[in-house]
Amino acid sequence: MITTKMMTYTLPVLPYPADALEPVISAETLANHHGKHFAAYVNNLNRLVSGSEYVGLLVEEIVREAPDGPIYNNAGQVMNHRLYFEQFIPASQYKAPGQRLINAINYHFGSMEIFKQQMTEAAMSLFGSGWVWLAIDTEGRLQIVKEMGGGNPWRRGMTPLLGIDCWEHSWYLDYAFDKAAHYDALWSIVNWDVIEGRLPM
Ligand SMILES: [Fe+2]
Repeated sequence: MITTKMMTYTLPVLPYPADALEPVISAETLANHHGKHFAAYVNNLNRLVSGSEYVGLLVEEIVREAPDGPIYNNAGQVMNHRLYFEQFIPASQYKAPGQRLINAINYHFGSMEIFKQQMTEAAMSLFGSGWVWLAIDTEGRLQIVKEMGGGNPWRRGMTPLLGIDCWEHSWYLDYAFDKAAHYDALWSIVNWDVIEGRLPM
């Protein structure tokens, strides 16, 4: 008898309409990024995990435990894109960060402006495809972490708070060669409540 294995990992529904982040992220880019690229990572992960020792594990567990290779790459990208898409809000609903986050950023970077500048510089200087993360380590220190490919600082025991997707699929359609403009514009749609909610208690 042939049984159909249940799909373990699913594509999350966007927490806003597809055109809600315009003009920072166009509806077309969002549709492609979420509906094609993110969906492909989810489908790849389901296919690769099926029949492997990773069946039944959380994506976060695979990112921590799997050796470098296709399963780790796709689990990383599933985790990354979950965090990425849930961290935005339409610019019309933007709210400034809360005091707890402002205090932590001021303490570790000097000011919010310096922090944003350092995140953008890290993203601009990342060669190839990857991510830049604001992450917090087990000692409570905030750090800006550059990751290649589908990397996430979670793999090394840190908690990711805010991620910049530095793959061309996230910006090229809307910004062509001006990726700096994309990175600058992202600050107007960050949902700081979500970022603060990722801080360990
Ligand atoms: Fe992406």
